[in-house]
Amino acid sequence: MPPSPREPLDIVTSFASDLGAMTGLTALGDRIIQELCLAGATPHGALFLLDREHECYRRASMADPAAPTLMPATIALDHPLPQHLLATNRIMTEADVPIEAHEAAAGTGARTAMKSLHATRAVPHLNKGRLIAFSLLGETQSSTGDQTLTESLLAALAQTAANALDTTVLAEDLQRSHTLMKRTDRLKSLETIAGGFAHEIRNPLTSIKTFIQLAPERKDDPEFIQEFSKIVLDDVYRIEQLIQRILDYARYMEPKLTDEDFNDLATSCIQFIDVKATSRGVTIEKIFAPDLPRVMLDRQQIKQVLLNLLLNAMDSMTGAGGHLRVQTSKLVKPGGKVWVRIDIQDTGGGIQAANLDHIFDPFFTTKKESGEHDGMGLGLTIVHQIVQEHHGEIQVQSTVGVGTTFSVSLPALPA
Ligand SMILES: Nc1ncnc2c1ncn2[C@@H]1O[C@H](COP(=O)(O)OP(=O)(O)OP(=O)(O)O)[C@@H](O)[C@H]1O
Ligand SMILES: [Mg+2]
Repeated sequence: MPPSPREPLDIVTSFASDLGAMTGLTALGDRIIQELCLAGATPHGALFLLDREHECYRRASMADPAAPTLMPATIALDHPLPQHLLATNRIMTEADVPIEAHEAAAGTGARTAMKSLHATRAVPHLNKGRLIAFSLLGETQSSTGDQTLTESLLAALAQTAANALDTTVLAEDLQRSHTLMKRTDRLKSLETIAGGFAHEIRNPLTSIKTFIQLAPERKDDPEFIQEFSKIVLDDVYRIEQLIQRILDYARYMEPKLTDEDFNDLATSCIQFIDVKATSRGVTIEKIFAPDLPRVMLDRQQIKQVLLNLLLNAMDSMTGAGGHLRVQTSKLVKPGGKVWVRIDIQDTGGGIQAANLDHIFDPFFTTKKESGEHDGMGLGLTIVHQIVQEHHGEIQVQSTVGVGTTFSVSLPALPA
């Protein structure tokens, strides 16, 4: 039994649903030209897409082109073919060939162009009055069948394609500007980091320089040599650490996402600070949600986030003892999206209100005057960067003299 002919309505419906599920412009273009060729009963076709940046129509997809060598890579915006399609907003066929005396020059030019490209139909894809693309179809293989029906089907498919193309182009534009914004943000903070780095490195370099200058005349003074050697070694160590932190920051661009158990990750980070906590008399309380969904994350990066927060919490509890509470939970956001959240709560000194706006700034630290140990003020900058790259959120609540809670939430794996 021969296959039953496809119903036009079914064709358009399944085409629309196929296009709706596609995200990339290349796949979309291929699918469009394939369907138009099928409807136009030809194996040959090419789709030209408006390229606003370069002000032309760019050949996006081709299906077995009848004259591949003739098919140009780009067609100018003011070329008669797109001009004519824009003006008429209808499919142009070979049947239109008799040239009416009153027809505009674009019509004649368009026909000549179609002929030279071995195209028998030019299909416009218009959206909101703009010709966002057009397709050229080759020689029809079987001329049986209702031509009017073919034309209506092509017109319906062309419009469906135009809508999908418009949405995808918009989404890609949005994605591009998002990437650009992120890059700009990053460049801005790299500028700050470079400035901060220069500033930070100056002091240790000065002391190293002084030592080198004084060493020849004081080489017989063992006390001087011993004392200064220690200082210089510390300075070198500090510069090394600074370089490492900055490299860490630069490396943290592209997270390598794997499917992870968040509780498991938190446990391994807590183990890391366990000995330090015990020796300082800090108690650790773990409240882990048993039903936590799995999360796509970069294990090393999120470990770095949790460790920085845990170490900051430990640093804040300088007096005797203290209590560190680590709680994980499942969050359901409005709209039903599931996230996981971790709260790291300390009973430390808290953060002054005036400092709260600056704690994520590169090189902001209060640990220089504390004498506890020198902080570089890069921990939270890195934390913030990583959380952002994971499309997560970080919040802080702090009361001076009572303590601080940092909360990090990350979108969970889709079920
Ligand atoms: N849990 C906390 N309690 C109180 N203050 C905090 C806490 N976490 C961060 N801060 C404040 O934020 C500042 C910046 O933190 P950040 O981790 O970026 O740098 P740092 O700890 O000083 O140095 P680094 O982490 O680079 O060694 C700290 O110096 C401190 O003043
Ligand atoms: Mg820190």
